[in-house]
Amino acid sequence: MKLGTKSLLWGAHAFFLHPFQVGWGWRQLWNFPWDVRLWICFFFHDAGYIKRDQMDGDGSEEHVILGAEIVRSICGPEYADECYRHSREWCRQTGQPYSRLCLADKMAFVLTPWWLYLPMTRLTGELDEYMSRSREDHRRSGYTEEQRELIFNGGQRAWLQGLQSYTLSWVEAHRGEVVPGRANESAVAVRAGVMECTEVANSNGGER
Ligand SMILES: [Fe+2]
Ligand SMILES: [Fe+2]
Repeated sequence: MKLGTKSLLWGAHAFFLHPFQVGWGWRQLWNFPWDVRLWICFFFHDAGYIKRDQMDGDGSEEHVILGAEIVRSICGPEYADECYRHSREWCRQTGQPYSRLCLADKMAFVLTPWWLYLPMTRLTGELDEYMSRSREDHRRSGYTEEQRELIFNGGQRAWLQGLQSYTLSWVEAHRGEVVPGRANESAVAVRAGVMECTEVANSNGGER
């Protein structure tokens, strides 16, 4: 079975857990997400990981497409746009602002307790990929000294603590910049420029 499928079944993007963690993240950032269309976004936004070989590699930002198009068919373009822009890498490559779902999704990672995250990602095999990507040399400068120590030199729990700390600072730094889903924005049209950009996104324990 492909890594992406395992992640959706019992890993970092488990269908029975991740949507609720995103809802919790949303609640922490703003208020309780009462709109049922938001919950449809929470449930489908990562559907595109299905049958993917890797989680964070080149082209992984394309995992947003399937979920966003499912959401478009149920809730319309505004919510599809919310889903398209949940990936930081997608936003970087298309030159678009982060959506609210993007920040709630990263908060979901911050809020996940180690005793859930580590066993689940160990079981799927995702953990190795997330750890090695976050330890790539070019990422060093993005971390504070304390985060760097935890991420590079600690065991799995220290690594998670360091990456969650980094992600929380990232969320706090970008909280004021989010743009909610836009009905008139054609997320598919801007994809024409996706492959031209080579900027590298920071790894984030599976929430790219
Ligand atoms: Fe995602
Ligand atoms: Fe997600």
